[in-house]
Amino acid sequence: MSGTSEPADRELIGEIRSAYEGSAGGWAAGPAGVYRRLAVALVGAAPLPLDGKRVLDLGAGTGVASEVLVEQGAEPVGVDLALAMLTHEREQRPPGVVADAQALPFRDGVFDAVVAAFCLNHVPDVVGALGQCRRVTRAGGILLASTFPSDDEHPAKAAVEVALEGFGYRRPDWYRTLKDRLATTSGDAPALEAAAGTAGLTDVRVERLEVDVGLDDPRTAVGWRLNMPHTVGFVAALVPEDRAALHARAVAALTGALPSSVPMLVLRAQVAGPPTD
Ligand SMILES: C[S@@+](CC[C@H](N)C(=O)[O-])C[C@H]1O[C@@H](n2cnc3c(N)ncnc32)[C@H](O)[C@@H]1O
Repeated sequence: MSGTSEPADRELIGEIRSAYEGSAGGWAAGPAGVYRRLAVALVGAAPLPLDGKRVLDLGAGTGVASEVLVEQGAEPVGVDLALAMLTHEREQRPPGVVADAQALPFRDGVFDAVVAAFCLNHVPDVVGALGQCRRVTRAGGILLASTFPSDDEHPAKAAVEVALEGFGYRRPDWYRTLKDRLATTSGDAPALEAAAGTAGLTDVRVERLEVDVGLDDPRTAVGWRLNMPHTVGFVAALVPEDRAALHARAVAALTGALPSSVPMLVLRAQVAGPPTD
């Protein structure tokens, strides 16, 4: 289901869903280590304690933010577009629902908070998704969301992409759209702040944080880039010798000093009204 009316956007969401449906194993093996540290920083930016709170983990993926929330004593419920991401190691996961952020299947005000870790950067209608977050959160509750700023250029990104191109890789169209179109809102602090205001959220603040995610290790950096949903299928389809050669070439390309950290935008906002609990 999707709340987006534009056919091109529905098609985009379908392509994003398919990419993530094929990515759960890769995500858990590579990017999840990086995103776990980002989730710790995001949840740590909450303006109030989340213990005992019912929290929607929007775009839950393989569950790194849910894990951090559980460690803080919160009770998360995951939502994700891709069933495979949501059911990865599902015995150890909190409850989850497959849904689009733009059309959440929950009653008004049922959550105390929404945490959306790197979900909004995939959503064509950011105002619509933020409006849904506001609707399902009780008065006095909070929204916490992270995205990557569009000027984030960790050197591993370009170096690994050049290595991939040497084997015939080309960015999929959906990923180009994320970077070229959707990031003009999700990756721009003033635009993201304005979107949250338009969606009816209050006390909106967007801050840029630098988070140490251990990317100064070339193997970690290559594992991150080669297991992303826009690369993992291409890599898996290579014959084993080429896959090994790609890996070696990508690691060799990262010989200089690599930054250990990446920047992230953190959006904090409130749902207006006195607390209802
Ligand atoms: C970059 S991953 C982040 C996953 C997880 N939050 C983390 O930090 O590791 C983005 C996740 O958002 C999900 N997603 C993308 N578009 C979505 C949408 N419109 N509604 C719900 N989930 C979406 C993807 O399937 C994917 O699991």
